[in-house]
Amino acid sequence: MSAPVPLAILGGSGYVAGELLRLLAAHGGFAPRAVVSASRAGEPVAAAFPHLAGAWPELCFAPAAALAGLFAEAPRAALVSAAPHGASAPAVAAALAAAAAARCALEVADLSADFRFADPAAWTAVYGQAHPAPELLPTFARGVPEHLGTSAFSRFAHPGCFATAVLLPLVPLVGSGRIAPEVAVTAITGSTGSGRAPSAATHHPERRSTVVAYAPLAHRHEPEIVAFVREATGVEVDLAFVPQSGPHARGIYATLHARLARPGSAEEIAAELAAFYAASPFVTAAVAPPRLVDVAGSNRAALGVAVRGDRVALFSALDNLAKGAAGGGLQWLNRRFGFPESAGLSAPGPGWL
Ligand SMILES: NC(=O)c1ccc[n+]([C@@H]2O[C@H](COP(=O)([O-])OP(=O)(O)OC[C@H]3O[C@@H](n4cnc5c(N)ncnc54)[C@H](OP(=O)(O)O)[C@@H]3O)[C@@H](O)[C@H]2O)c1
Repeated sequence: MSAPVPLAILGGSGYVAGELLRLLAAHGGFAPRAVVSASRAGEPVAAAFPHLAGAWPELCFAPAAALAGLFAEAPRAALVSAAPHGASAPAVAAALAAAAAARCALEVADLSADFRFADPAAWTAVYGQAHPAPELLPTFARGVPEHLGTSAFSRFAHPGCFATAVLLPLVPLVGSGRIAPEVAVTAITGSTGSGRAPSAATHHPERRSTVVAYAPLAHRHEPEIVAFVREATGVEVDLAFVPQSGPHARGIYATLHARLARPGSAEEIAAELAAFYAASPFVTAAVAPPRLVDVAGSNRAALGVAVRGDRVALFSALDNLAKGAAGGGLQWLNRRFGFPESAGLSAPGPGWL
């Protein structure tokens, strides 16, 4: 058996990094050698993630400077960035430079928004600042792993949790011409989608028993989703996206409304989606609307369909931290390093959260 692939994580004490470490505990093929933390270097990882104490009892957070040592010892390594947007790109650029200097072939999965657009001007229009590393943008594959197939790119930009939930039903049906490219989406997310830092809007008493829409028709993920659909299908979709905050901790439930461009029953459309994802170990489609609790805590995504006349409603449920972030990134790295696609990702969710 070959030695595990050395793996580094940026944004080490965040929720997504914690989820990746949880998934890696069931993998065995990757060894987290540098869990980089700007705020907690030297502390045990288990101090930030007590639920991981049994999995990683000895592992401590490392400073960014530790990356050079890791790269010096490894001919090939993996880097997952779970840093915030704006901070991720410069940190990834620095890591790539350090790896190149050490002659280490570094594969990157970036889970932030920094490499989601091919065009730096598109990123600037959404994020309001110059892109920190525009020269790297053409070097990234962008999209849901299921829509990219085998790729020659050694760098991967994850579309994010909301986008994955929307793209999974949208890309096959827009791409086949089944639905007209005018789509309205509401998608409700759990509180882990906001990350570790507390705010007034994420404070437990403010959030635990309510639902509220935020940034309706003006959210930063809307242009990202449009760009991903364009890249995957060549179709320009007219998207109206309304995200909502829900009282649960994990999971996204998206409902898409569109019109059928080609008539079909709910059964036929569910079969079309199921056929599209037949080779995917993670995406299932049926007529019945999925339940969030059946996928939360897992890397699975479940799709559903309803049809009345030329109206179609599509349902998509997934875990924001897993399939929507760390799991999708690990899925990509599995492909790149020759592991089975589902290595570390096949465990079902708990069923009750
Ligand atoms: N939460 C989700 O459901 C989700 C889904 C898809 C994508 N994402 C994306 O994944 C990334 C991580 O999300 P998250 O929810 O884990 O966020 P988080 O809990 O806020 O964690 C981000 C971590 O990044 C580090 N960090 C914060 N500010 C930084 C800065 N200025 N420079 C460098 N590092 C900084 C911090 O860790 P250290 O102090 O330890 O370095 C922080 O804990 C984000 O880009 C987010 O947009 C999140």
